[in-house]
Parts: sequence; structure tokens; C-alpha cells
Amino acid sequence: MKIKTLSIKLVLCLAVCTFLSSCLEDKVDLTKVSYSEEEFATLSQYLNLPRARASFAVEFPLHMIRSGAQTPEINDAKATLGSVLFYDTKLSANNTVSCGSCHKQELAFSDDVALSKGFRGELTKRNSLPLASTANFESSYGGNSFAGQTAFFFWDERAHSIAEQSKMTLEDDIEMGANLYALSDQLENEDYYKILFRKAYGTEEVTPAKITDALEVFINSFVSVDSPFDEGLNKKFGPFENFANFTSQENLGKSLFNNNCSSCHGADFTTLVETVANNGLDLEYEDKGVGARTNLDFDNGRFKVPFLRNIALTGPYMHDGRFETLEEVIDHYSEGIQSHPNLDIRLRDGFRQDGSAIRMSFTTEEKAALVAFLHTLTDNKFVQNERYADPFK
Ligand code: HEC
Ligand code: HEC
Repeated sequence: MKIKTLSIKLVLCLAVCTFLSSCLEDKVDLTKVSYSEEEFATLSQYLNLPRARASFAVEFPLHMIRSGAQTPEINDAKATLGSVLFYDTKLSANNTVSCGSCHKQELAFSDDVALSKGFRGELTKRNSLPLASTANFESSYGGNSFAGQTAFFFWDERAHSIAEQSKMTLEDDIEMGANLYALSDQLENEDYYKILFRKAYGTEEVTPAKITDALEVFINSFVSVDSPFDEGLNKKFGPFENFANFTSQENLGKSLFNNNCSSCHGADFTTLVETVANNGLDLEYEDKGVGARTNLDFDNGRFKVPFLRNIALTGPYMHDGRFETLEEVIDHYSEGIQSHPNLDIRLRDGFRQDGSAIRMSFTTEEKAALVAFLHTLTDNKFVQNERYADPFK
């Protein structure tokens, strides 16, 4: 008897609990909804946004939390607005290109051509950079970042924040050719921006600063840290031991990388060791890189040291996209480094008095191992994550 009443009680209790938790779930869902029926109907004419606010919350992997990285707060309403701005061709002078035209999600937000086409079909001066790692830079998250060095934006690091970079890109007469004040007026008249700006900034007023701020928040939410490399590093205390999830070829590639490449690109792909360098592509640089900006001979041929996350997806490579494949990149470091006067000390032969270029002289097996290792930096979840996808219908 007793057991029976107990089990009835239990069943009742379970039923009540399920009922309560389903109410709670409903409640939670309701608080998450960010658009009224009317707003949602308007937005849905143009956009595929979820009715409930999309979460842009950033989660770091174990190895980054262990090394003291603090997860930043991303404002979801601003990031949502930023995602719409990023994919809106109205941001270019003749409604032809958006940020997403040259920064494609499936390519970790880079482009698959050496030089990209701007709004009038003219080619950009340099190779489009991937955007998956901008969050690693010191200047992101108001300095609350985890980059070992202060790294800035563009191949010559001429912009100090994504907001500043976005302004330059929007106004650039090859890339987007926009006048930011006229653009603000134009966007203010769009039904969907009325709603999105109000959600993000409390008013429908559009200003150049709000446009670039929302773009910055969206891009700072790009966190690509779910590659096989991260999985391996999560289970080790550093990048130098062999990873259990790697093949022996990938582990060989990793140790070659640690010995020859990490002194600039970093070994954990979270912190950069060097931010700009001359890696000996040419004896005479057509594009002087940082030197063209500072007018100092010392800076000629110095370019940003790129983060190599998702590198297998972001070819062609280097500031001018001269190398189609990673094999060509490895050949460059193996036997092609030029003895430019500004060649970085790390790429000079310490045994030769004239400080000429080092020859890494990798064997065929070693070259293949390096390429295999670079492929472990691909984060497929990042390139498929819907919150970064084009929201336009
Ligand atoms: C026409 C092609 C094109 C368009 C459109 C474009 N970009 Fe770019 N983007 C580039 C190129 C090329 C570079 C590298 C330019 C350089 O370094 O001089 C770049 C660099 C960047 C960088 C620097 C990344 C780094 O690691 O330093 C960011 C951030 C960026 N773009 C964001 C944007 C945003 C936001 C928009 C839209 C407002 C945009 N881009 C539109 C081609 C484009
Ligand atoms: C002295 C610092 C330094 C060292 C050491 C170094 N690199 Fe680089 N790396 C750079 C710089 C700077 C660039 C960009 C140069 C440019 O575009 O003009 C670059 C570019 C690259 C790129 C192309 C990235 C892109 O997005 O286009 C790859 C891939 C690369 N390096 C891999 C390696 C590998 C593999 C090694 C070791 C064999 C290595 N690097 C060693 C400084 C370095």
C-alpha cells in the first residue's frame, strides 16, 4: 500500500514538475523575444531574422580560459544590426557590394581571389584579410584581449579599431565609395533599420558612428576556436607535446611549425609573437606595406603577421595573394626567402656574417607534414555558424 501511494505521489510530483518546467520554459522564451508581432512582420519582408533574439555570446575553449582570457560581453541587438549592415549592398555607393562580398563566411571571411572587386569593378590594392580572428587583437574588446602584442588592422596596420577600419573601407573609392552622412540619411528611411537601430541604440536616428560601432560589435563576435588544434590543446598544458587527436604527420608538422614559424605566428594561435615583419617575399617590394605609410626605409616590405587560424580556407596567400596554395607558401619559407635589407632577424642565417636569408630546406615529407598541420587549424563550425550568415532574403 505504502509503496503504491508513494509511487502515485511520485507520478503526481513528476507531472507537476514537468508542468512547472514547461511554464518556466515558456516564460524564458517570452523574455527572449525581441520583436513585437508588427516589428517582426516588417523585418520578415526583407530578412530571415529569428523572432527571439539571436545570442552572440562568445565561448572560449578550455585552453584559452586556462591562459586567463576573459570572455567579452557582446550586445546581441548591436551584433544583429551589425550582421544586417555587413551583408547590405546599400552600404556601397551604387548598391553593388557589401562587406560580405569580399569577406565570405565559408572562407573564414576572406576572398578566394588575389584582389577583390570593389563597387565599380576596380580591383583592391591588396588581398582581402580573413576576419575570423580579429577578436584576438589587443584593440578589440576595449583592450581586454589576449593577444601577446598590440595588433592593428589592415596589412599595414593603418587602422586602430574595426570601427576606424570600417569607416576607411566604406569611404574608400575602390572598395565601397560611400559618403557616411548621406548613407546614414538613406538607411534612416529603411523600415528594417528603423527597428534594428531602435533595438540597438534606443532611437531610430542613424549616424556614421553607430554604423561603424555595430559593424565592430558584429565582427568582434567572430570567435573561431573550435578546430582540431583547439581540441588537442584543450587536453594538454601547452602546444609543444604531441596531441592525442593528431596523426603522426600532423604532430610532425606541429613540431616543425613550433621550431620554424611560431617565433612570429605564435604557437597557440591565440597570441601573436610578432605583429609586423618582412618575411623576404621580394628583394624590391612594389607595395612597400608599412613603409608606404610611415615613409621610413626601415619599414619597407613589412606587413602584418597574419593569424593562421582557418588558413586552409583563406588562400590565395600573402598581401598580394601571390601564392595560390599552402604548398607554395611552404616552398617560399623552405628555399625562397629573399635577403631584403629589412628581412626579419628570425629569417636570417645566424651562421653567415652577411646575415643573408635562412634556408629551411624542408624535405618533401616535412613539407607535407607542415601543410597537414596547417589544415588542423580549420574550424568548420565557425564557417557554418548561422549567426554569422547572410540574413537577407
Ligand atoms: C571590395 C572588397 C572589400 C569590401 C567591400 C570590404 N573589404 Fe574589408 N578588406 C578588403 C581588403 C582587400 C582588405 C585588406 C586591405 C589592406 O590591408 O590594405 C580588407 C581588410 C579588412 C579588415 C582588416 C582585417 C585585419 O586582420 O586587419 C577588416 C576588419 C575588414 N576588412 C572589414 C570589412 C568591413 C566591416 C567591410 C564593410 C564595411 C569590409 N571589410 C568591406 C576588402 C574588402
Ligand atoms: C619573421 C616572422 C615570420 C616567420 C618566422 C614566419 N612567418 Fe609566415 N608570415 C609572416 C609575414 C610578415 C607574413 C605576411 C607577409 C606579406 O604578405 O607580405 C606571413 C604570411 C604567412 C602566410 C600567409 C597568410 C595569409 O593569410 O596570406 C602563411 C600561410 C605563413 N606565413 C606561414 C608560415 C609558416 C608555415 C612559417 C614557418 C615555416 C612562417 N610563416 C614563418 C611572418 C613570418
